[in-house]
Amino acid sequence: MTNKNLIDLEAMGVEQIDKIVRKARKIMQSPADYRHACDGKILATLFYEPSTRTQMSFQTAMLKLGGRTIGFDNPMNSSVSKGESLKDTISVISGYADIIAIRHPVEGTAMAASLYSSVPLINCGDGGHLHPTQTLTDIVTLSCEKGRLDHMKIGVCGDLLNGRTVHSLIKTLAKYEGNSFVLISTKELSVPLYIIDILEKNGCTYEISHSLSDAIVDLDMLYMTRIQRERFKSPEEYEAQKNVFVLDREKLDRARDDMIILHPLPRVNEITVDIDDDPRALYFKQAQYGMFGRMALILLLLQDEDFIISSRETELSVHRCNNPKCVTQSEAYLPNLSYKKLGMQMCDFCDKRID
Ligand code: CP
Repeated sequence: MTNKNLIDLEAMGVEQIDKIVRKARKIMQSPADYRHACDGKILATLFYEPSTRTQMSFQTAMLKLGGRTIGFDNPMNSSVSKGESLKDTISVISGYADIIAIRHPVEGTAMAASLYSSVPLINCGDGGHLHPTQTLTDIVTLSCEKGRLDHMKIGVCGDLLNGRTVHSLIKTLAKYEGNSFVLISTKELSVPLYIIDILEKNGCTYEISHSLSDAIVDLDMLYMTRIQRERFKSPEEYEAQKNVFVLDREKLDRARDDMIILHPLPRVNEITVDIDDDPRALYFKQAQYGMFGRMALILLLLQDEDFIISSRETELSVHRCNNPKCVTQSEAYLPNLSYKKLGMQMCDFCDKRID
């Protein structure tokens, strides 16, 4: 099966990801050539969850391509507040717009929305699950700043359990040859096991570390992340985790001169502000690279007939997904779509195992 929706970068091969990066770099070199590339086209940004970068960079991307934007950033100002289902909202908006960018706090929502969209749909973050266009941002940054996407030692630090940006990034960089990973977190916020499975399946070496000071010394890239307060069950659990890993001047002095620091942002306390002027601190530049990556993605989805994203084979499961955070819990009409992985039945929306 094939489609034009970007739900998970996992569905793309290295050649396809490289094509987006090449396109982004071409746009950066001569932005004027693309000023009218999307004349007459409309992007709908449906943000059911707060955002600064993803929402505004998508809007800016479409405006810079000559298109226009519609949408909401507070669902309570839309008919969602009257109880409108995701299916109905998407069915209507795909009749207005040429392409949809959606963020939602519930896992699997982008996949669910894509079932009812007649136009390309892009996942801009679904709960703690995935955030593929942040990964595009990170990949474009790495390509421009390090000149390669392979043979790197990559440290990821912070909330590796709930951080959807980290999950998407590790899954994608694991596809490239010779990358190794240092997973720096507390025991409570370790990466989910399915990410470890992916690293092992791809033959990537990885270490688990509980010390940023120790891990930082021989990295090519350090990816810092925020502790995701909104995903904790109680304020006490969050308080126990916040500020455990803080990148400060003392730790940075132990790093190599050519290491780069990325962060998907927003930052809370995990990088001290005195580091912002260090040439290795690239997180603000990274946010700008993201806009070019999103321009490239919009163009390829709308204009390149060969740019098709493959879909996995699904089947109807007898059982319903029992992940309490899955979109199937709140949108009751959704079919019990599942797929097989390593002999197990997985939910097609949230990628959790269905028992
Ligand atoms: N990195 C990122 O997703 O930022 P926003 O939440 O501001 O969109």
